[in-house]
Amino acid sequence: MTNSESGWEVRPLSPALGAEVIGPKINNLNDDQVKKLKELLLEHLVIFMPGQSPSPALHVEFGKRFGSLEGHPNLSSDDKLPREIFELKASKGGIADEWHTDLTFRSSPAIMSIMHIVKCPEVGGDTLWSSTYAAYDQLSSPMKDLCEGLTALHDAHPHNQPDQMAIHPVVRLHPETQRRALYINQHFTRRIVELSAEESEAVLKYLIGWISHPKFSVRYRWRPGTVCMWDNRCTQHMVLNDFTGERVIQRVTVTGDKVFGVKGKKYKPALNSDRLSAQSRHDRQLFMHLKNEDSSS
Ligand code: SIN
Repeated sequence: MTNSESGWEVRPLSPALGAEVIGPKINNLNDDQVKKLKELLLEHLVIFMPGQSPSPALHVEFGKRFGSLEGHPNLSSDDKLPREIFELKASKGGIADEWHTDLTFRSSPAIMSIMHIVKCPEVGGDTLWSSTYAAYDQLSSPMKDLCEGLTALHDAHPHNQPDQMAIHPVVRLHPETQRRALYINQHFTRRIVELSAEESEAVLKYLIGWISHPKFSVRYRWRPGTVCMWDNRCTQHMVLNDFTGERVIQRVTVTGDKVFGVKGKKYKPALNSDRLSAQSRHDRQLFMHLKNEDSSS
């Protein structure tokens, strides 16, 4: 479908999310075109612009049109790159092959990520995204009610930094569209605060599986030079670790703000802390985090 104002061609890739946008040149966009890209991102949640091949400096310049950028808080990149660029090389183990939303262990997680695929295998190494709006929308009403009253603890354990933690609502209200989206993920979410450890494990397992259902997803086959942008407030993604050869991505993230839920907190944290027992270990991380939050407020 050609957009009459911009002259760009927009090709939706799946009913749930994702579109290729053919026409923009990211090194030469006026303010109206940047606004148009923001609108397309709000509509399609992840957009792909093939044939861009930006230099790292241009990538950063393009990213800054959408907000302030931050480097990766925990994982080091190449010193020769601008500090805002985070690079992942498959040969160094850089394959994000578990469902996640970027940096949810931060109290204000990145709102948007902009990625340039520098090198990719001829076949394999596709990335999948899932719409967490659609995953929320298709829950039953009782399940929506339950999830809306819950919060979850996220941590940076995958980066060997388990002390970096944040608690966010399980259902997030998108500040621009006002739509509701599920906000837990396989990689960074550890525990639902208001459920016992056993209940939390069961509910998280269910929601993580649900979000990854193919009906909520799009799968993209890469060509080098493609630039892609995704909205971290309403999507998750993962890479298929099914390839041989080199795959290199460079990414910038746009700094975020506080995550807002739908309702005020309804339930108390479910901690088995009356007296120490063999089971206390299941609650220790949450207990320590809540204690630290209390002492710092
Ligand atoms: C990421 O998780 O940010 C990287 C996605 C990819 O390598 O396709």
